[in-house]
Amino acid sequence: MSANSRAVSIVRADTAPLLRRAPARRSSPRPFLKWVGGKSQLLGQLAAWVPEDYNRYLEPFLGGGAMFFSHLPEQAVLADANDELIDCYTAVRDHLDEVMDELERHRYEKDYYYDVRGWERTDLPLIERAARTIFLNKTGFNGLYRVNSKGLFNVPFGRYSNPTICDRDNLPGCSEALQGVELRHTDFEAMIDDADEGDFVYLDPPYVPLNATANFTAYTAGGFGPEEQRRLAQALVRAHRRGARFLLSNADTPVTRELYADLLDEPGIDLDIVLARRNVNSNAKRRGRVTEVVLFNG
Ligand SMILES: C[S@@+](CC[C@H](N)C(=O)[O-])C[C@H]1O[C@@H](n2cnc3c(N)ncnc32)[C@H](O)[C@@H]1O
Repeated sequence: MSANSRAVSIVRADTAPLLRRAPARRSSPRPFLKWVGGKSQLLGQLAAWVPEDYNRYLEPFLGGGAMFFSHLPEQAVLADANDELIDCYTAVRDHLDEVMDELERHRYEKDYYYDVRGWERTDLPLIERAARTIFLNKTGFNGLYRVNSKGLFNVPFGRYSNPTICDRDNLPGCSEALQGVELRHTDFEAMIDDADEGDFVYLDPPYVPLNATANFTAYTAGGFGPEEQRRLAQALVRAHRRGARFLLSNADTPVTRELYADLLDEPGIDLDIVLARRNVNSNAKRRGRVTEVVLFNG
């Protein structure tokens, strides 16, 4: 266990492989939202690059927060550009009982789902807003988060047998883990620029698409294109020079390797690969094992 892991009254496994093999412990907090790109499957391998000791833990691309919930760092700053997501974490941290009571009022029914999906989120108070987000995440197709050009959530109804909308076994542990944690709705660059000597930044950005062209100009993925990937790489060099530690994963493509080539000239920055399951692909031929690059310093 890292020296920074918080002594909360939550029993947890130290590594993801253990977590996966051991019978589920009801009190271990798990991500309370399903999030595309969630890192649960890679945690065991990534743990090798998490420093034993650090001051603050900063996570600029929070999503479902798999790494945070697995490590439970003592001092954490968690951020994401998605305000709905950060609102949801804030409500679970500060108003757990009210969020759970509100979740109990929701039900798994197709017409009802579309009704709730159509509610104007910004008109709702924080607790109702957060409960709506969790409800849509648990009952929408594949737990996807997708908005249209007007910013309205547009994921269709999902088919499940009796989905758990209010997870009273898991939410209290998540809320407890979030006590004292600073949550920010911000762009990643401000977070990385805030990292100081002794801090650790864990980064799981939207990946460079596997089919990105090698000239690295022609793609965007969820609004995160070449310019953002370059901005991210440059911010990491600055953080490295200030003495912050970081760990980042990305798709293993020629574009990614080209993107990080300059960083590898910096003494102390290195690159490795991990094996990941590619499970979000409708094309059966493209499922299976893929490599991902891991960029880190030490
Ligand atoms: C791959 S997901 C992170 C998954 C997460 N590690 C998990 O375990 O679920 C990437 C996240 O980056 C966020 N994001 C996209 N662009 C961003 C930006 N410019 N600044 C900060 N966060 C951003 C998205 O909202 C999304 O939640």
